[in-house]
Amino acid sequence: MITTVQTHIRHQQQNFAEASGTFSWLLSGLTLATKMVEAKIRLGGLSDALGAKGSVNVQGEVQQKLDVYANETLLHTLGGRDAVAALVSEENEEPIIINADPDSGKYIIVFDPLDGSSNIDVNVNVGTIFSILKRTPGQPLEASILQPGHQQVAAGYVVYGPSTVFVYTAGNGVHGFTLDPAIGAFVLTSEQMRMPEQGPYYSTNEANETTWPLPYRQFINRLRRGQLNGKTYSSRYIGSLVADFHRTLLKGGVFLYPPTDKSPQGKLRLLYEANPLSFIAEQAGGAAIDGTQRILDLQPASIHQRTSLVVGSRAEVDALHALVQKEAADEKKES
Ligand code: F6P
Repeated sequence: MITTVQTHIRHQQQNFAEASGTFSWLLSGLTLATKMVEAKIRLGGLSDALGAKGSVNVQGEVQQKLDVYANETLLHTLGGRDAVAALVSEENEEPIIINADPDSGKYIIVFDPLDGSSNIDVNVNVGTIFSILKRTPGQPLEASILQPGHQQVAAGYVVYGPSTVFVYTAGNGVHGFTLDPAIGAFVLTSEQMRMPEQGPYYSTNEANETTWPLPYRQFINRLRRGQLNGKTYSSRYIGSLVADFHRTLLKGGVFLYPPTDKSPQGKLRLLYEANPLSFIAEQAGGAAIDGTQRILDLQPASIHQRTSLVVGSRAEVDALHALVQKEAADEKKES
């Protein structure tokens, strides 16, 4: 028999404190919304969903029509679930409070409705990323939203690609599902996914290389020259984080978005990009840092906070970390 996302999470009940009917109801909101987004994307130019909306989001980015559709769909499906206390979206400046009653509104869902949306019009993979937090009892709801990533209850993403896949963790490994269009359900296709310990690819926007801090430049040069365990790396970059991450999870290697002159704090968002993917990476045996610290230990100060991100197989993440530490030690000696 097939296993859907909802049945899978229920089967984990023994290992997972949150595995109640309520929690699987939340996940069903996510799978429903992403199936609706998938249906729209699949139509491509046959629908009127392609192209820019003409508005700009909180990040100052031009909104695509599908950004707006994906956001409204997630807000609608999740906003109807009583267990949701608040929704935090890349597309909304402020959190949206759904159920302020602490006894019933237990969860906060943070999401990037359509990641990599500049790729939509050219028929290249895009995705949805989500993170589920539990409201901290006795604390104002706003404070509960700014939790470090190691407190996430669950996290996952959907890649809208040649097939549509749903990958999630609830702290007990990483599990992958593929949308079966014949029955309209995400069906379990890979249980307990593991990231290879070292991989063949690095994934980064190399156009920014000249503005990266020295250790990042040294690191990429080492990978190109085969100076990490003798392996010569190839480069792969889609420009949709979720798709670049998915390849890294399956094939191994490293994705990095270092600080640049244009984005000195890094470009990617901590709460709904770096945190969920870092949780998944660690659960699959990989690692994720901002250059110096573990991503999951960062205390967020605001909901749209940016961070630099190095995520992937342990060998590469450790090697970059060692170069950053060496640079810091050298600077200390000189001063
Ligand atoms: O955060 C949005 C995003 O599109 C990510 O999906 C992607 O990894 C990154 O930005 C691409 O940025 P750039 O175009 O600067 O390489």
